[in-house]
Amino acid sequence: MSDMVLHGLPLKRDAGPFDPPTEITRARQNRPVCPMVFHDGHAGWLVTGYEEVRQLMADNRFSSRQDLGVLHVPNEIPGMPTPTEPSPQVPGLFIAMDPPDHTRLRRKLTGAFTVRRMKELEEHIAEITERQLDAMARLTPPVDLVAEFALPVPSLVICELLGVPYDDRETFQANSAKFMLREIGLEDKMAAYTAITGYLAELVVGKRAKPGEDILSDLARDEDLSIEELVGIAFLLLLAGHETTANMIGLGTFALLEHPAQLAELRENPDLTAGAVEELMRYLSVADIFYRYAAEDLELGGEQIPAGSTVIVSLLAANRDPRRFDDPDALDIRRNARGHTGFGHGVHQCLGQQLARIERRAGFEGLLRRFPTLALAVPAEEIRVRSDMNIYGVHELPVTWTT
Ligand code: HEM
Repeated sequence: MSDMVLHGLPLKRDAGPFDPPTEITRARQNRPVCPMVFHDGHAGWLVTGYEEVRQLMADNRFSSRQDLGVLHVPNEIPGMPTPTEPSPQVPGLFIAMDPPDHTRLRRKLTGAFTVRRMKELEEHIAEITERQLDAMARLTPPVDLVAEFALPVPSLVICELLGVPYDDRETFQANSAKFMLREIGLEDKMAAYTAITGYLAELVVGKRAKPGEDILSDLARDEDLSIEELVGIAFLLLLAGHETTANMIGLGTFALLEHPAQLAELRENPDLTAGAVEELMRYLSVADIFYRYAAEDLELGGEQIPAGSTVIVSLLAANRDPRRFDDPDALDIRRNARGHTGFGHGVHQCLGQQLARIERRAGFEGLLRRFPTLALAVPAEEIRVRSDMNIYGVHELPVTWTT
């Protein structure tokens, strides 16, 4: 067993904008379950191997709860006090719960996100995508693809599904972007959180009084759910529903433009889109870092993890594990990328994955068809990547095309 130990979580994308930080790749090679010293001195763990990540995510003794014990943070966050106590459980936020609480809430939503329900939406999502592409085509390039396309499409879709008026997007888009900042002071983070949840509380109270035809109204009809729970669920769905997909489309387009042979192949064979979307998920893993808490003494990958440890997983590292994928650092739209962990694994595996797949297929297919000469409008080195955010991606993607 290697004696490698990490000090803090490496975040800088020193190996290139699409690849894991070198230190993380090294950890996976040498010690896929690697001890870490956090900035407060706590001894935690980083899990980077594909098998080890899957095993951890399938085992609820690696708890998702933040109220069981202190979840330590690996790096210092300026303006954020070092946590010394567990965080209280937020009602409705089932991503941070274990069974049976998690099961009770997730079950109320599975019907709304089935493969069949999502298939029924496919045509409508294609229309929304097409309308947004029409609007973009009317602009004079260069334009920012994130602002004009990658963010509006999933935002419009999740707003419509949930019954959140899209016209109110100023409130939740700006605040959710703030909330997702890694290095944000406590006061600013709380202000962003309060702005979104205050807005959502008013919305769900209205829906309980006068429900309409949308997912939040269906939930509001269920008297088993409190208003606080409805707000927590709405918060989770709204944030998870647009930040992740938006970044997949933005970063995915950047990755394709930087791999011209792959892009040309995809343009020639639009039938490859579904496979390309899966491969981009694996290759980019925009939702990369997740936390777990060891509820008891546990063994993983031959290492002994004591109860009370904070355990961090890197889904990106797992998806680049050569023990699972051949030539893992190559983007290859023809490979079978199924089995990747980009949507997680186990009971918390992404609820919105079918929706995300449909949005991305429509997004990439439409974008490449409508803009055959799409190109970056600035040198690739000038694209600002989001290593400062909890979901990876690009802040802006200036693109151009010949008109
Ligand atoms: C959970 C990724 C899109 C809703 C997750 C998890 C991952 C993930 C990795 C597991 C978290 C964990 O184990 O702690 C992604 C990516 C997406 C995407 C990469 C886009 C490309 C969406 C969309 C929705 C959504 C569109 C819309 C509803 C959720 C919810 C959970 C979740 C509610 C929590 C599930 C649970 O705790 O049972 N997602 N997601 N996601 N995702 Fe997604």
